[in-house]
Amino acid sequence: MSITFNKKTNSFLLNTPSSSYIIRIYDNKYLLHGGWVSRIEEWDDDVCSMPLLDRAFSPVPAELHNKADFSLNSQQQEFPTSGRSDFRTGAFEALCADGTIAADLFYDSHKIIKGKPGIKGLPATYVTSESEADTLEINLKDPVTGVMVKLVYTVWNNRDVICRHTIVKNDSSKAGGIYKNQPVKLRRVMSASLDFMTSRYKMLQLSGAHARERHAIWQKLIPGTQSVESRRGTSSHQHNPFIALADYEATETSGQVFGFNLVYSGNFVAGTEVDQFNMSRVQIGINPYNFEWELAAGETFETPEVVMVFSNKGLGELSRTYHDLYRDNMCRGPWQKKERPIVINNWEATYFNFNAEKLFKLADRAAEEGIELFVLDDGWFGKRDDDRSSLGDWFVNTKKLTGGLEEIAEGIHKRGLKFGLWFEPEMISPDSNLYRAHPDWCLHIEGRDRSLGRHQSVLDLSRDDVVDYLTETLSKILSTVAIDYVKWDFNRSQTEVASALASPANQMKTAHKYYLGLYRLLENVTQKFPNVLFESCSGGGGRFDPAFLYYMPQCWTSDNTDGLSRLAIQNGTSIAYPASAMSCHVSAVPNHQTGRVTNISERGHTAMAGTFGYELDLNKLSQPELDEIKDQVALYKKIRSTVQFGDLYRLRSSWDTVAPAESTAYTAWNIVSKDKKQAVLTLVWQFAEGNPELQLIKLKGLDPKAKYKLTCSQSATIRAHLADFPFPLPESAFAPFPAGTATSGDKLMNVGLYLPYMPQYGGSVQIVLEQI
Ligand code: DGJ
Repeated sequence: MSITFNKKTNSFLLNTPSSSYIIRIYDNKYLLHGGWVSRIEEWDDDVCSMPLLDRAFSPVPAELHNKADFSLNSQQQEFPTSGRSDFRTGAFEALCADGTIAADLFYDSHKIIKGKPGIKGLPATYVTSESEADTLEINLKDPVTGVMVKLVYTVWNNRDVICRHTIVKNDSSKAGGIYKNQPVKLRRVMSASLDFMTSRYKMLQLSGAHARERHAIWQKLIPGTQSVESRRGTSSHQHNPFIALADYEATETSGQVFGFNLVYSGNFVAGTEVDQFNMSRVQIGINPYNFEWELAAGETFETPEVVMVFSNKGLGELSRTYHDLYRDNMCRGPWQKKERPIVINNWEATYFNFNAEKLFKLADRAAEEGIELFVLDDGWFGKRDDDRSSLGDWFVNTKKLTGGLEEIAEGIHKRGLKFGLWFEPEMISPDSNLYRAHPDWCLHIEGRDRSLGRHQSVLDLSRDDVVDYLTETLSKILSTVAIDYVKWDFNRSQTEVASALASPANQMKTAHKYYLGLYRLLENVTQKFPNVLFESCSGGGGRFDPAFLYYMPQCWTSDNTDGLSRLAIQNGTSIAYPASAMSCHVSAVPNHQTGRVTNISERGHTAMAGTFGYELDLNKLSQPELDEIKDQVALYKKIRSTVQFGDLYRLRSSWDTVAPAESTAYTAWNIVSKDKKQAVLTLVWQFAEGNPELQLIKLKGLDPKAKYKLTCSQSATIRAHLADFPFPLPESAFAPFPAGTATSGDKLMNVGLYLPYMPQYGGSVQIVLEQI
C-alpha cells in the first residue's frame, strides 16, 4: 500500500517509488503540507516537521491565540482558503450566503481505497488493475456554510506520479442560520495547491504562439506571482497547462524536478507565488477568469485532474515518466499501442484548390514512396473554396469532388493507402446553412456583435442539443464513408463566451460547460468508431494537452514544419508529451511559415522524432528528393516502434548554454526501445562555423554490456552535395564511422561518439543502433 495514515502523528505518507508526499493534520483540524521529497519509509515522529513560529504580521486563529505560535500565513498548507489568516492566494474561494468569501476547510475524515476512481464528465488517467495505484480521499468541511471539499490523491505504485483533483459538495442542508440550504458560488477551485519551503527553484513553462508553440522557458522564482494561463477558451498555443519547478542545479540528468500538468483543454492557470518568507506556493486549475459556478444545496462540482510527477534524476526522467503514463494510462483504444501510419496530407500541397484528379495524383506518388495514409484536409465540404464559409455544413462539395467522398475513399483505398478526413466540428461559419438555420447555436452575447476569428464562430457546446447534433452528423459520415483517420481541428480562440440557453445566474458556467459538452462529444464519437485513428489539432498545436490524449492518441504539433523551428517546438513538447502523440511532417521549401530552406534530409530527421508524415506536393520534387523520401519512409518503418514507444533522452539542445567561443549549436536526442535492442540517435545542427571544434556525443539509456551495430543514414542528396564540394572531403564528412561498425553500449555512453567533422554541409545526421 503506497498510502499510510499514522495515528500517532496524525499524518499521511504517500509513497511513490522514489518520492514521499507528507500531509499533516494539526490540532485535529488544519490540513498542512509536510513536503514532497525523496522517498522516506515512515513518517512516525514530528522531529522534521516545520516548527511553529510567531512571525510578524501573521495573525493566529482565535482559538489558538495565546496557545500556539500557529499561523496559516506561515505554515505549509495543503488546500488554503481565502478570507482568513493566510494572505497568499487561496486554492478555494466561494461566495457564501452571507456575501463573504471566507472559508475554513477543516479536516473531517478520510478514506484510502485501492485503484483509482474516474472523474465525472472529465478525462483523466485510469488504471487497468487496482494494483497499479491507491487513492486517498480527505474530506474537509467548513463548519459555517456546510461546504465540503474532498481532496483526491491517486498515488501510483510503479511510477513517480501523484494525481490530484478536488470535489466540492454544497452540504448546506447541514448548516444553520442564513446558510441553511443556500447555494454557494464557486469562484476559484484549484485542482492542486502545493507549498514548498523554499523559493530556490527555477520554473519551467512551455510558452509561445501559433507556429512557435511550447518553447521551454526557464526563470528563477522571485517574490510575488509568476504564472501562465489561458483565457482563450482553449489550452492554447501561448501557454501549455504545464509547469515544473526544479532545483537551481537540476539538469536534464540530475537534480529534483516537480512537474504539474493539468488534464484540461479550456481556460487554466498554473503558477507559483513566493511569499515574504521565501516559501513558494504552486497552484494549478481552472482559470477563475470567466468562471463562477453556482452550486445549489446538495450539488457537487469536480475539478480536472493534475498529474504531478517527481524526478530526482533531472528533467529527462520527468519526461519519461510523463510519456509512459500518458501512453499506458491516458490514451485508450486500439491505436493506443499500435504503430502509427506514415501520412501524406494534402493541405500544403493544394490548400483549397483540389479535385479528385489532383488528389489521386498525389496519392499515386505517395503510394510509390511507401506512404500509408492519405489525409484529405480542409475544403471538401459545403461550398468551401477558402476559409470564409461552410463550417457546419458537413456534406461533400460536389463541385470539387463530383463523385462524392465515397469515390475519394474508394480511390485512395484502391491505391493501397488508408483514408483520412479533416473536420472542424466545433465551428460554424456565418455563411453556412447551419448558421442560417440556427443563428443562436454559437457562443454569443445577446445584444453584442459577434467577434469572428478566421471568419468563423464557435458552436455552443454547453448546449446538449448542439452536442447531440454533432454526434449524429459526424456519426453519419463516419458510418457511410470508409474513413480510417480523422483530423479534428479548432481554429480560433473563444470570445463572447455565453450561451443562449443559460440564465444570467448561470452564464459564467458556460466556459467550463463547453468542455463538459466537448468531452461528451469526443467520448460519443471516439467510442462509436474505435478503429478510427483520431488526431487532434488546433491551428497546429493550440490544444496539445493531456485531456485530448484521452480521446485522441496523437496531435498535430505545429503548423510550423520548418525543420529548424521544429527543434524548439518538439523539444518543448517532448518535456511532457510522448513521441507517439507528437505528429510531425516534412513539408516543402521554402517553408510556408518561415520561408527558410533546409534540406530534405534534415527535415526528415527532425520529423522522425514523432509520428511521421509528409505535407507537400510530392509531384513537384526532384528524383533525388523522391529517392530520399523513399529511403526515409523505409527507415521510419524500421524504427517507428522505438521512436513512438521507446525512451527519449534529450542529449543537447542548440539553445542550451553555449561555451565561450563554441562554434556549433545543435540539438541531439536518442530514443531507445524498451528492450534496449534498438536505438536511434539524431543530431541536427542549428549552425556551424568553419573549422569547428570536434564534438563528442555520449548516448544514454543503452544496455552497457550489449554490442550495437551502427548504421548512419546520411542521405543521398547530402552525399551528392558533399561530392560537389570544390575540395575533396574526408570520409568523416560523410559518415562518422565506416559501414558495419559495432561497439559496446558502455563505450557509446561513457566515452561517446565523434560527430561527422563537417556538420555545416550535412545539417543533420541519424544513426540507428541495433543490438547484436
Ligand atoms: C489548421 C491546421 O493546423 C492545418 O494543418 C490545416 O488543417 C488548416 N487548419 C486547414 O484549415
